[in-house]
Amino acid sequence: MKNIVRSIALIICCMIVMTSCTPAKQGGQTQEKNEDKIRIGMSFDSFIIERWQRDRDVFVSTAKEYGAEVNVQNASGDVEEQKKQIEYLIAKEMDVIVIICADSEKLKDSVEKAKDAGIRVIAYDRLLMDTDAILYYATFDNKMVGTIIANEIIDQADLNEVRKAGDYRTIEFFMGSPDDNNAYMFYTGLMEVLRPYMDDGTLVCKSGKFTFNETAIIRWSEEMAAEKCPRLLETHYKDEDLDICASVFDGFAYGCKTALEDAGYTERNWPIITGQDADLKACKNILEGVQTSSVYKDTRVLAEKCVTMVNAVCNGSTPEINDIEQYNNRVITVPSYLCTPVIINADNIQEIIIDSGYYTEEELMGE
Ligand code: BGC
Repeated sequence: MKNIVRSIALIICCMIVMTSCTPAKQGGQTQEKNEDKIRIGMSFDSFIIERWQRDRDVFVSTAKEYGAEVNVQNASGDVEEQKKQIEYLIAKEMDVIVIICADSEKLKDSVEKAKDAGIRVIAYDRLLMDTDAILYYATFDNKMVGTIIANEIIDQADLNEVRKAGDYRTIEFFMGSPDDNNAYMFYTGLMEVLRPYMDDGTLVCKSGKFTFNETAIIRWSEEMAAEKCPRLLETHYKDEDLDICASVFDGFAYGCKTALEDAGYTERNWPIITGQDADLKACKNILEGVQTSSVYKDTRVLAEKCVTMVNAVCNGSTPEINDIEQYNNRVITVPSYLCTPVIINADNIQEIIIDSGYYTEEELMGE
């Protein structure tokens, strides 16, 4: 009896393996397709932001190493354009479409068309909401990004000592774009840590604006951050310095830096300024002492994880996943791989950025 059960189990296993090994794309394709190169369509929000250029380069070269080819599309921040480009990639019969969405909530119909065409969709870095058409999500631990920025603020401002002394520090917030699901996660992680310091008066936000909606900057606009910071300084910090710019993006940090210089801040009263992405310019600013920290997201690791995900999907195996809880998009909880973000500052930039070869010393020291 045991043997019969074992044989049946074996036959079922073989059937599963055989079905999962059918080509990535269904519908009239032959087994030969499996020997072909995997064709990945990659749809980017925009390349205006430095980070996405790095992601593109490293993803394309990693995919090449795995024998896949990538058709890169750039929506230049335009959601309608991104929809068209996804439809183009569907028409081109990609095996998998990887999407860095310009708007987490507006691509539902496009990705559902891909699903209907038998094309697998993977969300890259940013989650796509309100659809079951995404198979997997490859990203960084977004809540952890907020947590490590908040912990950096506590350390750099020595907030526990400030609290013991009954003193306080002033703080203003520059949060991410409300059309990007990541931005909510950054805010949640950050506030979970900083809230107790605000509640007991160790942190004082003189503008009184610290909810997500009050501090979110649409489309991650560096220009809007550059306009917001002088307004805050002018209205709330005439008699007292601003001590902390809690920013979740290097672009916002640049805007704050310019505004602070214009307002006459110097080394003597220069505030803590945080950022995210470890852009080349941000790293230079950290070395110069005009930006306190950034969040290093090793795009090489993310690209590798995502390309192996694509490979697994095309070969019918299960990719490595390390989170099945956090990313519910209101329809499904998307199985995710979360890479680990790391804080960089003047103390560890040499080890983390230069020694790891992320940027060379020449790049960092150059103009
Ligand atoms: C990414 C960040 C990036 C921001 C602006 C977010 O979705 O996770 O790394 O700084 O978009 O492009």
